[in-house]
Amino acid sequence: MIKVQDIVYCVYRSPDLDKMKTFLTDFGMVEAGRADDKLFMRGAGAYPYINVTEKGPAGFVAVGMLAGSAAELEEAAKLPGASGVEAIEAPGGGKRVRLAGPDGFRFDIVHGVAPAAELPVRKPLPINFAYQKQRVIDLQRPDFEPARIVRLGHCVLKFSDGDGAVKWLKDTLGMLVTDRLHAPDDQKKTLGHFMRVNRGDKPSDHHSIFALQAMPGDINVHHTSYEVQDPDAVHIGHQWMQNKGYKLAWGVGRHLLGSQVFDYWRSPDGYIFEHYADGDLLNDKVQSGDYPATEENLAQWGPALGPTFFDSVVV
Ligand SMILES: [Fe+2]
Repeated sequence: MIKVQDIVYCVYRSPDLDKMKTFLTDFGMVEAGRADDKLFMRGAGAYPYINVTEKGPAGFVAVGMLAGSAAELEEAAKLPGASGVEAIEAPGGGKRVRLAGPDGFRFDIVHGVAPAAELPVRKPLPINFAYQKQRVIDLQRPDFEPARIVRLGHCVLKFSDGDGAVKWLKDTLGMLVTDRLHAPDDQKKTLGHFMRVNRGDKPSDHHSIFALQAMPGDINVHHTSYEVQDPDAVHIGHQWMQNKGYKLAWGVGRHLLGSQVFDYWRSPDGYIFEHYADGDLLNDKVQSGDYPATEENLAQWGPALGPTFFDSVVV
C-alpha cells in the first residue's frame, strides 16, 4: 500500500483566469507560470505551485498528493483505474499518476517535482507574553500586506458516501483518521472525518484531507486551506481581503479540531479559500477522536457560523 506524504496542490477551473489571479494574489499567492488556458500560483514554500486554475466552467478538478517514493508511484500506477505514470507539464516537471477517487474526484499522486527557490516571508512575530517578555526596544510593526501563503495545508471534499470515502483514503493512500465528526443527535451518523498523512514518527498536519458527508447532489469541494506564518498574518490578511471587497465566509476564529486560527473567503466563482496558522501536528501514535458536530466543537472562539458556510458555492 502506498502512503502519501503530503498534500501539494489543488486544481480548479474558472472562466476568468485574470480575475482568479487578482483574487489569489490578494489572498497571498504569487504567479508561478501562465499559459492561455492555465494559471499556476505558488506559495513561498519550495513546491513550485500550490494552486492551478484551468480555463473553463467553474469547478474543482483535482488534488495533488506526494508519493512516498518513486517505487510508490509505480505501485499507484497499478491501482484499478489508474492513468499510468505520466510526465507533469508544469513548473518543476516531475511525474504523476492520476487516480479516480470516490465520486470521481481526481487524486494525482506525484513524485520527482523539482523544488523552487523559496520566497521571503516575514519572520514570526516575537510576542511579549505577560510573564515572558521577548521584545525590548524592538517595536512590533508588521507590514500591512496580503497574508503571504507558504503552502497548501488541506482540502475538504464532500463525498456521497463519507464512510466509503474514508475507507478509500485509508486503503489506497495510506491515510490515518485523526478525528471523526458525527451528528449531535446520532453518534452512528458520520458527518466527516479529518484524515492525516502517515509519516510514522515524524509529525504531520492534523488533517490533509477532510472527507465530509455530502448532502444529496452536492458532490463538490468545500474548501482548500493555505498556511501562513502566524495568527497576525491571518488577521492582517483578513483586513486586506475586507478592504478589497471580497466576500467573507467565516472568521477570524480558532478551530477546536486541529486548533488552527482560521479565516475563510469566497473566490470570484464562490468557492471557499482558507488562511490558517498555528495548526496541530501529530504522529502515527495518536488515537483518533470522535466528536459531535456542535458549534463548540467546530471553533473555540470566533464569530457565529453563517447559514451558507457549508454551501460549496456562494456567489
Ligand atoms: Fe479548513
